[in-house]
Amino acid sequence: MNELELLDIAVQVAGEAADTARRMRNEAITDVGTKSTATDVVTAADRAVEQQVIAALAARRPGDTVLGEEFGGAPVSAAAGGVRWIVDPIDGTVNYLYGLEYYAVSIAAEVDGEIVAGVVRHATTGETWTAAKGHGAFRDGVRLTGSRAVELPLSLIGTGFGYARERRAHQAAVAAHVLPRVRDIRRMGSAALDLCAAAEGRLDAFYEKGLAEWDLAAGGLIAREAGLLVTGLSGRPAGPDMVLAAPPALHGPLDELLTGLDADAGP
Ligand code: IPD
Repeated sequence: MNELELLDIAVQVAGEAADTARRMRNEAITDVGTKSTATDVVTAADRAVEQQVIAALAARRPGDTVLGEEFGGAPVSAAAGGVRWIVDPIDGTVNYLYGLEYYAVSIAAEVDGEIVAGVVRHATTGETWTAAKGHGAFRDGVRLTGSRAVELPLSLIGTGFGYARERRAHQAAVAAHVLPRVRDIRRMGSAALDLCAAAEGRLDAFYEKGLAEWDLAAGGLIAREAGLLVTGLSGRPAGPDMVLAAPPALHGPLDELLTGLDADAGP
């Protein structure tokens, strides 16, 4: 099965999952737990949607492995040539909890350590961002090419914050230095949607320290396929220390600014 066929499956499954998330949001949210810290929440819907996604993928692709946010992703590697699905059932859980509409289902397919297909489905608007490796990035069928901004001081930069206090303190200090040097900063609450926003030019660029695989997998491919550079700082690969997604003209200046602030260091 090629990357476009895997993408088709991901799109179907993400659409069904987003419907469930939205439906459950209309019911009272009673079952709220916490994960890494008291601010890192999980709802019954996160778990129900992830279970639905795992079952839907298993029905279509028995034998594949799934790494999901809520169930700890027991199987983390697929056999050579096998597919590993990387799933964030609700990215933007805090928004979800508060009835803010910016949350999404994110599903990516990885083969031999490389993300080859990804979909991010905005659960309330239904907007769907997709990419298959080598085939470009799209929102609802419209090809994406990222922002045309060339000047950092005139750029709108998205970012996000982790859940641990020490990390947040560092991220706040970095943001305090970035803010006077750019048009403005947005912290919208879903890294997967933020990466899609950058792919589309709704943000000029995005950075965040501390993202998990499920936050990055689909949105990172979509941003790359839209022509953005998606890296860590100073030539390192994107990963938990830093994800910087920017069009080529902004990538160097933002990399330099963040490197100077040691944005990828610390807790
Ligand atoms: C979070 C969101 C948020 C980002 C955090 C993520 P979750 O994911 O993507 O925007 O800043 O780092 O953990 O907890 O809503 O799935």
